[in-house]
Amino acid sequence: MTVTDTAPGAAVYSPFFLRWVYDAWVLNISNSYAWCCSAAKQRAFYSRNLASARGKDPFRLCDIGVATGYYLEHAPIPEGSEVTVVDLNTNSLDAASERLLAAHPGVTANKVHGDFLEPDAKSELAITQARLGGDKFDAISCMFLLHCVPGPPARKAQGLQRLAPLLKDDGVLFGTTILGKGVQHNFFGNFLMTAYNKAGSFQNWDDDAESIVQPLRESFADVKFEVVGTVLLFEARKPKTR
Ligand SMILES: C[S@@+](CC[C@H](N)C(=O)[O-])C[C@H]1O[C@@H](n2cnc3c(N)ncnc32)[C@H](O)[C@@H]1O
Repeated sequence: MTVTDTAPGAAVYSPFFLRWVYDAWVLNISNSYAWCCSAAKQRAFYSRNLASARGKDPFRLCDIGVATGYYLEHAPIPEGSEVTVVDLNTNSLDAASERLLAAHPGVTANKVHGDFLEPDAKSELAITQARLGGDKFDAISCMFLLHCVPGPPARKAQGLQRLAPLLKDDGVLFGTTILGKGVQHNFFGNFLMTAYNKAGSFQNWDDDAESIVQPLRESFADVKFEVVGTVLLFEARKPKTR
């Protein structure tokens, strides 16, 4: 079965939007003033998790849901590392891989057109070891992805659980997502949540921290999380699936 309801969450990422709007509107304005979890905070979270993967040694990173590749540009990625970017929108794949290689010319970039929610391993959009190629990953990131994909939250958590077999024993899966439940949105955040959920670019009114974290605990022995503003930041280590 190939999923068919995920397209709205990736539809807005045109070349124009990625080049002229995304970083300014989403990363600078919305992150700080609507979601109250700044891009600087998330950048530090991203870089800390990557550094925890292999220190200064080259590593294998898979970044799912990449948009402009802002965090990739600013991350400590050692020369010789292999980075696989995965996205449902090919404009995002092109923008992020270009930015990655401009900032880190010594790394290898691999673009994979994939759907985070695709459950059928035989699908041409599945995120599987066979499609991603090579060895398992030292780090897998999903920054600001889950709030873009359709629920229920258990379905999003299953997408994360499917990534456990792709991670090395000492690797880390981490990410951030805007929550719809169990947090207090301010006026600006509430306005954007309403507009974006109506448009389909967000589908997160039912997402709370526990609905994402608890399933992670079933698939990973070491799970940490915090909520900053209305954003969940999670990191999971020691995958249980072999
Ligand atoms: C909000 S952006 C996040 C970009 C970046 N990680 C960040 O934090 O700034 C969401 C990205 O996820 C992609 N996306 C949305 N739904 C997806 C899905 N079902 N599978 C894979 N990627 C998806 C979009 O095309 C877009 O590039």
